[in-house]
Amino acid sequence: MSQISIFVGSVYGGAQELAFTLADSLKSTKHQSEVFLPGTINDVKNASHILFVTSTTGAGDIPAELEALYLELKHQFPLLTDIPYGIITLGDSSYDDTFCGAGKKIDVLLQELQAKACIKNLEIDACEDFEPEKPALVWFDSFIKAL
Ligand SMILES: Cc1cc2nc3c(=O)[nH]c(=O)nc-3n(C[C@H](O)[C@H](O)[C@H](O)COP(=O)(O)O)c2cc1C
Repeated sequence: MSQISIFVGSVYGGAQELAFTLADSLKSTKHQSEVFLPGTINDVKNASHILFVTSTTGAGDIPAELEALYLELKHQFPLLTDIPYGIITLGDSSYDDTFCGAGKKIDVLLQELQAKACIKNLEIDACEDFEPEKPALVWFDSFIKAL
């Protein structure tokens, strides 16, 4: 049984809705989850399995509330050695160079904190996937199996 802590960053609610869909999908399994909007640094430090679900805003930026948590992690730098993590990022490829930049920034930080990437992070392009839950649920299944 795995307990997954899901940390969310969202501007218009898409990433938040997706996080709750993923949490609901675990209800019929032996696994459990908790959704944090976005949660505190202690929630991250106490997590046994970490999932970030974030959209991208500005020019490759992390949504404001999650960015505050990201900056706190960067400043305090708590080692998360070998804690398994995954990241789902919502973005839009019309933003070119900054496509899914929020998730990329979080990925760099989690690697610096020595957390352990489980599987390749998922980037969902609003230009291609009008229903992000479809690719996300497939990816989430692989993520759970990789834990
Ligand atoms: C003002 C604004 C800026 C955005 N900037 C980016 C960006 O730099 N890179 C990217 O991949 N997507 C960008 N997006 C696309 C959003 O990440 C995408 O629409 C996402 O699905 C929104 O999710 P949310 O409802 O959780 O906020 C931007 C969207 C808006 C409205």
